[in-house]
Amino acid sequence: MPEKLVAGEIIKYINITRTIMENVVENVVAMPRIGDKAPEFKAITTQGNLDFPKAYEGKWVILFSHPADFTPVCTSEFMTFAKMEPEFNALNCDLVGLSIDGLYSHIAWLRTIKEKIEYKDMKNIEVKFPLIEDITMEIAKKYGMIQPGESSTKAVRAVFFIDPKGIIRAIIYYPLSLGRNFDELKRALIAMQTADKHEIATPADWRPGDAVIVPPAGSCGVAKDRMEGDEADMKCYDWFFCTKELPLDKV
Ligand code: BEZ
Repeated sequence: MPEKLVAGEIIKYINITRTIMENVVENVVAMPRIGDKAPEFKAITTQGNLDFPKAYEGKWVILFSHPADFTPVCTSEFMTFAKMEPEFNALNCDLVGLSIDGLYSHIAWLRTIKEKIEYKDMKNIEVKFPLIEDITMEIAKKYGMIQPGESSTKAVRAVFFIDPKGIIRAIIYYPLSLGRNFDELKRALIAMQTADKHEIATPADWRPGDAVIVPPAGSCGVAKDRMEGDEADMKCYDWFFCTKELPLDKV
């Protein structure tokens, strides 16, 4: 603060500072993080009212945002996700979409997709998972889906993986121009479920059926055993890096 301010100037200075701080706070992008509880919200969707994440207790859910209805990249993504929905459901995972559009725009877009769009091997595609209307951007802001450097009016392509306890387990962001790889989203879901079930980790480019990584040796004795080949089902590249087979039918 400049020196020798009189009382009136001090109040003016405080008020200006407060206004600046309020603007900063308003423009801060809330970014939920991995390990956080998924922020709660109530929403209107193309499948009725939604109480999130309560409605998905006991299930995995992928909450994803897209920039706008009636846009080509989003259309290709929605058709792909809708086609793959049974594969995600079979993994105990539901899908929920969101964009900063109103309910009637969502309905009109989904009707157009079903009635008119043939893309690759997909036609007559019905989007059965809920698409949230978020015209006020309240939910998009809560989830850090608005990233002003990319767009202040459209949500980026965010993907939140939320586990059966309502905890955010993975987050992937893509820019507006980049359509997502849905095989990768499925691979990531299976990898997290496998890590939970078997208390292992998955190496680079892991696919179901590949070897998995066992937790690093936690003592000198275990490190020695592993290096001496005493752990029969493991392959060790060094004492801290060991894998074991996990056949597809055990994943
Ligand atoms: C699209 O989905 O096609 C799209 C949306 C916003 C910006 C660029 C592309």
